Amino acid sequence: MSRAKAQTKQSSYISRDSSRSYFLAVFVSMVLVFVICSLTETLPSFQNRISTTGADTCNGEPPAVNRTHDPKQATFYDEPELTYTLGKTIKDWDKKRKSWLNLHPSFAAGADTRILIVTGSQPSPCKNPIGDHLLLRCFKNKADYSRIHGYDIFYNTACLDPKLCNVWAKVALIRAAMVAHPEAEWIWWMDSDAVFTDMYFKVPLQRYKQHNLVVPGWPDMVYEKKSWVSLNTGSFFTRNCQWSLDFLDVWARMSPRSPDYKFWSETLMSTLSDKMFPGADEQSSLVYLLLTEKKKLGDKIYLENQYDLSSYWVGVVGKLDKFTRTEADAEKNLPLLRRRRAEVVSESVGGVWEKYLENNTASEGKRPFITHFTGCQPCSGNHDPSYVGNTCWDAMERTLNYADNQVLRNLGFVHRDISRGSYVLPLAFDFPSEVLQRKKSGEEYNR
Ligand SMILES: *[C@@H]1O[C@H](CO)[C@@H](O)[C@H](O)[C@H]1NC(C)=O
Ligand SMILES: *[C@@H]1O[C@H](CO)[C@@H](O)[C@H](O)[C@H]1NC(C)=O
Repeated sequence: MSRAKAQTKQSSYISRDSSRSYFLAVFVSMVLVFVICSLTETLPSFQNRISTTGADTCNGEPPAVNRTHDPKQATFYDEPELTYTLGKTIKDWDKKRKSWLNLHPSFAAGADTRILIVTGSQPSPCKNPIGDHLLLRCFKNKADYSRIHGYDIFYNTACLDPKLCNVWAKVALIRAAMVAHPEAEWIWWMDSDAVFTDMYFKVPLQRYKQHNLVVPGWPDMVYEKKSWVSLNTGSFFTRNCQWSLDFLDVWARMSPRSPDYKFWSETLMSTLSDKMFPGADEQSSLVYLLLTEKKKLGDKIYLENQYDLSSYWVGVVGKLDKFTRTEADAEKNLPLLRRRRAEVVSESVGGVWEKYLENNTASEGKRPFITHFTGCQPCSGNHDPSYVGNTCWDAMERTLNYADNQVLRNLGFVHRDISRGSYVLPLAFDFPSEVLQRKKSGEEYNR
């Protein structure tokens, strides 16, 4: 993403801050688990039938995890002083997590790349009449992405720390999730209004071997411009390790949990070049920590800008039709992309897409991985006044349908008009080639 684009974000971020600062988000929780392999544990006869076809494991993935195996040996869970809350240190976490994995070998296999996506929204109904609908669709989008890639997902609507029922809620949630999910190497926070728009892109975890926190950002905007929008905490991931536990505590010392909250608010206002509204928010605080502790933190925090972990929606929505055309071209040229396949192996086309798009589109023509509806505030409806009328809601509808088409394809359907979510058509076999031929011969696009 270009720097120019990042700068255009400022106006909307500012209003995000102002409305966020009094936005009381209190969070009840529910867990969705998508491990298809585990089904076979509860359905032995089904497994037997599958076995006769020679498929003992699901497509060469690590063997199914054992969700009933929890040996009696003591783990960190048995320590009376263990807490899930910020501000209470856990010592030797890396060792403790490793011991737990050793006692749970089915989870140890594949632990290095295991991701838990955490997200959430406020506990009460949305003021915006379509707010709850939009949040549901945003969650569906994340559930689809998680299922396709075999990630677990946690949606939180409870306030885990009474002082952090606001933009800081994510920090308390990540802390609890790290302890609750020793099987996951990475905890990936997504704002409720961030949407996957490339369902087949996977984050290149091998790139972050030396890092513990990955956040979209631009080093020159952090260190030279000292801008509070030099990075974006709407979508970032942290490694489940001692460093991250300690870092979350350092970070939260600037939050409303801290007796020095007012001091931090003033310090951020005077240090950051473009922060207009008081209140130490979590994003500005992270920029400040990088600025002041570059030596200690800079090595472990990866500012990612080679792909879009949080693309500003205004620059995306106008390009959705172009992306759709590029994708239709790709399908026309590469029969592999037109082939029908089971959803569980749909990840196999990911690399093919990447290569095709690399060769055939300028980088700015590539669909972003994640599109973030910054400034839209779908739940409260108090969007940035510069987005007139229904701009935000129409943009969300179109973007969600655009993303949904990548999912529906596996089910044999398509939203032909991404402005109208309820309207789908069966996808013709070998789409689009047959469709294009029919079009040429004057037949209807879709019957
Ligand atoms: C899972 O663990 C339980 C308890 O240790 C054990 O009885 C069961 O056989 C294990 N299941 C598999 C599939 O290994
Ligand atoms: C992309 O371009 C490179 C260099 O021209 C070529 O070697 C490669 O085969 C192309 N890949 C695809 C998928 O078209």
